[in-house]
Amino acid sequence: MAQRAFATDPVPTAASTRDVKAMGRPAFTGAEGLVVQEAPGMPKDVSDDQRRQRNYPEQPPVIPHAIAGYQLDLRANKCLTCHAREFTGDSQAPMISVTHFQDRDGQVLGAVSTRRYFCLQCHVPQTDAQPRVVNIFRDVDSVIRDSRSPAGEGK
Ligand code: HEC
Ligand code: HEC
Repeated sequence: MAQRAFATDPVPTAASTRDVKAMGRPAFTGAEGLVVQEAPGMPKDVSDDQRRQRNYPEQPPVIPHAIAGYQLDLRANKCLTCHAREFTGDSQAPMISVTHFQDRDGQVLGAVSTRRYFCLQCHVPQTDAQPRVVNIFRDVDSVIRDSRSPAGEGK
């Protein structure tokens, strides 16, 4: 396991490009008393196709499949090739809901509204990375349940 690099460790300096080349690769190792910390591995994409429960009704559902390499720009929208109404029969993907067809005045349009075109503004894929801080969020159903049950009284 690589050691952490501390600020007090001597930092090798290179006076010229020639010196840098002379150091070769990897440049900073034991001899200089500095071992560069290994970067943690990239977290794995969650791609089990299990739709996740939403924490509240207005939450954009998270994406339960991998999206690497999906083109999403002015020219092409890979997401809509499965999630647009006309393709859901073949893809079996859930259709974008009616809110995705509404303009800012609530008028329902024939095609996906430009406000909802860039899906990743709101929908995010998941990884197996662990949260950095403890999350104590509780959904409204569990709050109501606890406030009604005798055990929850006084909370
Ligand atoms: C090849 C077809 C396909 C493509 C392309 C695709 N999806 Fe999906 N998506 C699905 C299917 C099928 C599901 C249902 C769950 C599953 O099988 O993964 C799904 C589920 C979802 C869900 C969960 C919906 C819910 O109610 O929980 C979201 C959000 C989503 N996709 C967003 C996207 C976005 C954003 C993109 C583009 C970056 C995209 N999808 C591209 C097929 C696709
Ligand atoms: C501005 C935010 C926003 C954008 C952009 C957006 N969505 Fe959504 N999406 C939502 C919200 C919020 C919901 C849940 C409530 C609703 O249906 O409006 C949702 C719901 C969904 C659902 C579930 C529908 C259902 O009935 O279960 C799918 C699938 C989906 N979006 C796909 C997409 C795709 C694909 C795109 C890109 C073409 C997209 N969304 C763009 C916010 C957004």
